[in-house]
Amino acid sequence: GLLSTTPMLQKAKRDKHGIVAFNVHSFDSIFWVLEAAAELKSPVILQTTVGTVKSLGAENIVKVAKAASEHYQIPTGLHLDHCTDYEVIKTAIRAGYTSVMIDASMHAFDENVRQTKEVMDLADSLGVNVEAELGKVGGVEDDIVVAEEDAQKAVPKDCQRFVELTGVPTLAPSIGTAHGIYKGDPDIDFDRIEKIAQVVDVPLVLHGGSAVPDQDVRRCVAEGMAKVNVSTELKNAYSKAIREHFEQEPDSLDPRAYLQKAKDAAKEMAKSKIRMVGSEGKV
Ligand code: 13P
Ligand code: ZN
Ligand code: NA
Repeated sequence: GLLSTTPMLQKAKRDKHGIVAFNVHSFDSIFWVLEAAAELKSPVILQTTVGTVKSLGAENIVKVAKAASEHYQIPTGLHLDHCTDYEVIKTAIRAGYTSVMIDASMHAFDENVRQTKEVMDLADSLGVNVEAELGKVGGVEDDIVVAEEDAQKAVPKDCQRFVELTGVPTLAPSIGTAHGIYKGDPDIDFDRIEKIAQVVDVPLVLHGGSAVPDQDVRRCVAEGMAKVNVSTELKNAYSKAIREHFEQEPDSLDPRAYLQKAKDAAKEMAKSKIRMVGSEGKV
């Protein structure tokens, strides 16, 4: 079955490795992400944006994720990514998601606290993990768009107060990464991560994991960022394989031919990310 990500991430933090949370966009991607994790004997988190919940249906996603996790026998969490809508959070929890993000990072501190508490009241007693964000992560993730000049790093003292006030078990502080691919390397504020980790005990979450150099991700993990979100690079690997297939064989018809290539490419990408966070062999 699907596991709450709270104990998964607490254990990862204690054992000093990360767990990748892969954004999945289709039913078959749920299977090949778990296949990649199973081949490396790694725990893994599947996550979907609100857009994916709307296109596939929360209950269908849960059924497929459960079936896949039982098939591959890998510790698996199912997380709702960047949700701003309490009703969608309720739907996801009812359907069987084991973790939800309430993203109220666009609001003032007090309102972020209020909305996070509201979700905690719903989720915590059901054993569902809650993730909140402080500061603003730049870039584009589905419907969430934050211009580079509006990105804002989280303040360590705020992180401490936020966790005290909300009791939230996982926190995503903005520390210099952005959603998507960067123009140059990201300017990660490692001092800030260290200060946040000194005053906050809960596992931290690294958003914008695509296009961050491996050694930078490993430093973040070492500082206590146990959940590493990866979306764009997985989508790119998948789509690029399909694009190349049709460049070579424009008249091809059999979906299995190009979907197999896409799967192989994305699976390799997933495996490289699992190795990057050090969760190989940690089941
Ligand atoms: P990337 O698209 O940069 O991998 O970011 C993923 C993410 O943070 C999902 O919430
Ligand atoms: Zn994100
Ligand atoms: Na990124």
